[in-house]
Amino acid sequence: MISPVRWNGPMDTAPTSRLPRRPTLSDGVVLLREPRETDVPAITAGAGEPSVAAYTTVPSPYAESDAVWFVDHVGESWAQSKAAHFAVCDASAPDQLLGMIGLHNIDLDGDPGGTAEIGYWLSSAARGRGLMRRAVRILSGWGIDELGLARIDWVAAVGNTPSRNVVQQCGYQFEGTVRLGMLQRGQRVDAWVGGLIASELIR
Ligand SMILES: CC(C)(COP(=O)(O)OP(=O)(O)OC[C@H]1O[C@@H](n2cnc3c(N)ncnc32)[C@H](O)[C@@H]1OP(=O)(O)O)[C@@H](O)C(=O)NCCC(=O)NCCS
Repeated sequence: MISPVRWNGPMDTAPTSRLPRRPTLSDGVVLLREPRETDVPAITAGAGEPSVAAYTTVPSPYAESDAVWFVDHVGESWAQSKAAHFAVCDASAPDQLLGMIGLHNIDLDGDPGGTAEIGYWLSSAARGRGLMRRAVRILSGWGIDELGLARIDWVAAVGNTPSRNVVQQCGYQFEGTVRLGMLQRGQRVDAWVGGLIASELIR
């Protein structure tokens, strides 16, 4: 049983963004917080793992300068209301980044409700403990409750069963295969697609 999510931050609106000020989110086991400059070594190592390159659109090989750029981009894309990225941590060690999760392609103009796409990775040492499942539940709940999202898209390279398992455990529905539906470092690959309707989230 996952305990109720605690919102640990001010929820007023930032002056330059339609997103609220970035909160720290936690269910008591997993904690999601702002990625910082001190995370650069952990981001470089985690995003540089071959399994992350194989299934995501991160640069490969992944250099420290990519992580530096990413941490900058996180603040910028939040200010532009385009994306909400969070460092994934164990709640008992909130300074140690284990992975990354985010909502991107945020569109808040729908009526009723906006849309976004979820993405994530976890360093291999942190896998197999259900941490990402918790992180997806926490972030999806925040997106629905605080951003008013009506739907969250999930897109994965065909064959990414670990990712499919994660979202399905959170209430996302598998919706099919889109041929050449994913652009990965300049190459089109077939994609599995799915999504979460706000009322379907397993909290
Ligand atoms: C996708 C990814 C995050 C999944 O990682 P993961 O460790 O399998 O996911 P979780 O943290 O939710 O853990 C779930 C696993 O922990 C196991 N587990 C162990 N204890 C658990 C617990 N207490 N609660 C829930 N699950 C638990 C589950 O059984 C499951 O393992 P299984 O799939 O072998 O059954 C990881 O494989 C990854 O980073 N891949 C590369 C990047 C990527 O593909 N990103 C997604 C792009 S769409």
